[in-house]
Amino acid sequence: QTLDLELDQIEKGGYPHFMLKEIFEQPKSIKDSMRGRVNASLGHLQLGGILQYANKLTNAERIIIVACGTSWHAGLVAEYLFEDIARIPVEVEYASEFRYRNPIIREGDVVIAISQSGETADTLAAIELAKSKGAVIFGVCNVVGSSISRASHEGAYLHAGPEIGVASTKAFTAQVSVLAMMAIIVGNKKGTITESQYIALLTELETIPQKVEKALKSNDQIVEIAEQFKDAKNFLYLGRGYNFPVALEGALKLKEISYIHAEGYPAAEMKHGPIALIDAEMPVCVIAPQDNSYEKIVSNIQEVRARKGRVIAVVTEGDTHIKNMAEYTIEVPATHEALMPLLTVIPLQLLSYHIAVMRGCNVDQPRNLAKSVTVE
Ligand code: G6P
Repeated sequence: QTLDLELDQIEKGGYPHFMLKEIFEQPKSIKDSMRGRVNASLGHLQLGGILQYANKLTNAERIIIVACGTSWHAGLVAEYLFEDIARIPVEVEYASEFRYRNPIIREGDVVIAISQSGETADTLAAIELAKSKGAVIFGVCNVVGSSISRASHEGAYLHAGPEIGVASTKAFTAQVSVLAMMAIIVGNKKGTITESQYIALLTELETIPQKVEKALKSNDQIVEIAEQFKDAKNFLYLGRGYNFPVALEGALKLKEISYIHAEGYPAAEMKHGPIALIDAEMPVCVIAPQDNSYEKIVSNIQEVRARKGRVIAVVTEGDTHIKNMAEYTIEVPATHEALMPLLTVIPLQLLSYHIAVMRGCNVDQPRNLAKSVTVE
């Protein structure tokens, strides 16, 4: 019994839960996802697992991404990445819907399956179906030798290390990191980004682990914020562009482990429904870094404030403008817009973690959820 307890403690590396350990591991896991793959000073970026079919990906007329849960959110970020950087149209599909709807797969389509475990039944079935229709499949998995990685033609592993907490954290950031690398490789080959944009992206990628380290420093402040909102009944998460999927992910994290009802929305869609829910009780978490949509999201914050909603904003370091409007602001370092989700998701993971702990929930094994869903 004592030995078991001690082993458990050792495995958690001194953290009270696997989830917190995995959140704090992200500077390392993201670095590991890039190890041997990126070298900005040499202008080098290569994914060893996608060489044979690399031309298929570069010349793809369309990319179809299939995934579930948090991996589906990483897929949504990838939609922005591939369209923006590589100018390839992308469709992101829930694997469960894709497999049962007689999907159209044309020559020139490429399928990317994203799965931490590599065992999710719906995702596996979706790629088997796509394969039978002649598609080339790239797997983006964490677990080496998993079913999805074996069923794929090629792929890239995350190298994030084992993820034990049921709520996915470090796998999400490693997925975004690997998908960003894929998009940058293709963009560079196709010439849809210039050489200087290519180098700038690689340089930024290399700085991400230390910026995540910095983002984690908001932990103490987030404990205070969690204290204020732990009894909330509902939460709204808003984001635009690259940070819209982060809003979905923030809401999912909160639902999964604290059992608070939460919804993520593209900020501009708020006026088509969720705005009706906003009153002085409603916490609204707005992801508002200084990117192309900054002015727009600032107006969305004003709309929430006008209805007395309680705004928690995730902002770029040094932003004083939003500080004057929001009840709380959490800062993350500045980076390239395309890589921002790697930083903005960090405070949202911490917020859901602390709220769940304060509510006495079992964060590592939330009720009714499984780490890997091998049945449909
Ligand atoms: C389950 C897990 C989620 C995960 C999803 C997809 O629902 O609880 O954390 O995002 O499955 O899993 P996968 O292993 O395919 O990424």
